[in-house]
Amino acid sequence: MAKEKTVFICQNCGVHSPKWLGKCPSCGEWNRFVEEVIRTTPSGAGRGAGLNRKSDAIPVLLKEVTNRKEYRFTSGDRELDRVLGNGIVPGSVILIGGDPGIGKSTLMLQIALNLTGKKVLYVSGEESASQIRYRAERIGKLEENCYILSETSLDDIFSGIDKVNPDLIVVDSIQTLTSSFLEAPPGSVSQIRQCTNELMRFAKKNHVPVFLIGHINKDGNLAGPKVLEHMVDTVLQFEGDRHHVYRILRSIKNRFGSTSELGIYEMHDDGLQIINNPSALLLSQRDEQVSGMAIGSTIEGIRPLLVEVQALVSPATFGTPQRSTTGFEFKRLNMLLAVLEKRAGFRLGVQDVFLNLTGGIKVEDPALDLAVCMSIVSSYQEIPINYDTCFAAEIGLSGELRTVNRIENRISEAEKQGFRKIIISKFNSRPVKTGKFKMDILPLGRVDEVIRKILGNY
Ligand code: TYD
Ligand code: MG
Repeated sequence: MAKEKTVFICQNCGVHSPKWLGKCPSCGEWNRFVEEVIRTTPSGAGRGAGLNRKSDAIPVLLKEVTNRKEYRFTSGDRELDRVLGNGIVPGSVILIGGDPGIGKSTLMLQIALNLTGKKVLYVSGEESASQIRYRAERIGKLEENCYILSETSLDDIFSGIDKVNPDLIVVDSIQTLTSSFLEAPPGSVSQIRQCTNELMRFAKKNHVPVFLIGHINKDGNLAGPKVLEHMVDTVLQFEGDRHHVYRILRSIKNRFGSTSELGIYEMHDDGLQIINNPSALLLSQRDEQVSGMAIGSTIEGIRPLLVEVQALVSPATFGTPQRSTTGFEFKRLNMLLAVLEKRAGFRLGVQDVFLNLTGGIKVEDPALDLAVCMSIVSSYQEIPINYDTCFAAEIGLSGELRTVNRIENRISEAEKQGFRKIIISKFNSRPVKTGKFKMDILPLGRVDEVIRKILGNY
């Protein structure tokens, strides 16, 4: 017989409590406890793996486990394959998160439609079958082997799976599903956990990969508890700026590959398109040289990317100078302004400073520091930086240029994009093999040295 009890569950970390609490003792969040009814069923109940019969549980010697070479199949999408670590592993569960409207459903439907020779079941708890058909027509492809199921009950979904017997399942989204084993509402921690669990068991037992789409809450984390991220094999994040066409697919966790890979797409009227030369797109096209622009050679994941930094420095008209950044960390900008003031003598404390990375991308790579400083000084001095020059160095608090990783990759990407000169730090532990490159490589030690070299004496 099923027993019923109610507990309070923290919607942030999933911790249980018999009574309501204001502050979660586990994660410290306030006001996250919600009452949920939990019906416990006799052990072994639950689908997917079937009943947990005793005879199933036989330990095996590790050395006797047959080492099947990990088989993967291609998703038909070069970027997704790369992010997953060279294709989809059968039986893996992949969670893909992202802001609303960023294109998660579009990406997954596109994958479902491009997978030739394999049956795909696209389960949508958010859209009707006709809405999905409309979207597929927009993408311009109607694959014969793609089945649509517009359902939210896990019982119905499993019976649909039995009928179709798919090679790949997409669930859009995990927050809409409900399992009949629980009374909690869809989207609650216990439902998310239960549904993921049942789908995981199904995936592992039948070697069918399952993609789960997950919502992101307003703090930018995947809605639902962290346990969800712990459970699945791979967590991907789909991000971008809704006002720009670029979308980046990043892997945050990957049991079957590296997490430093990155996929780059462009959202068009007819779906997402792979970008062949992302650097060229991130650099804006222009004829004349203007002040306040500098190009940095950054690395996102393991991919070198040339990013254009634009700065506008103008005297502050109101008491407190304003600072704003897009795509770059605000605190880091303040630090760099302080370094320029103190170590290079620019009186930026009385200036408004606006900083923008073109293309709507976000960069955390510290190698962009030098390009940021150079764009600020170029705007302040109103001297343009020659368009064939780019920068790759971190800046320390005393104004020194610090080394950055993979410097040779950065140089070769810059060379590929047609740059003639790159400024790097002279403190590289291993000397850069300059002979390999045709471009002019200038190793320097301090930020003021770079300013004198590029913009002249000040
Ligand atoms: P969607 O996949 O519904 O986002 P999510 O599932 O992450 O919430 O995509 C939403 C946006 O993408 C929507 O604003 C319309 C736009 N879009 C295009 O620009 N081109 C297309 O071909 C499609 C299908 C959508
Ligand atoms: Mg969607």
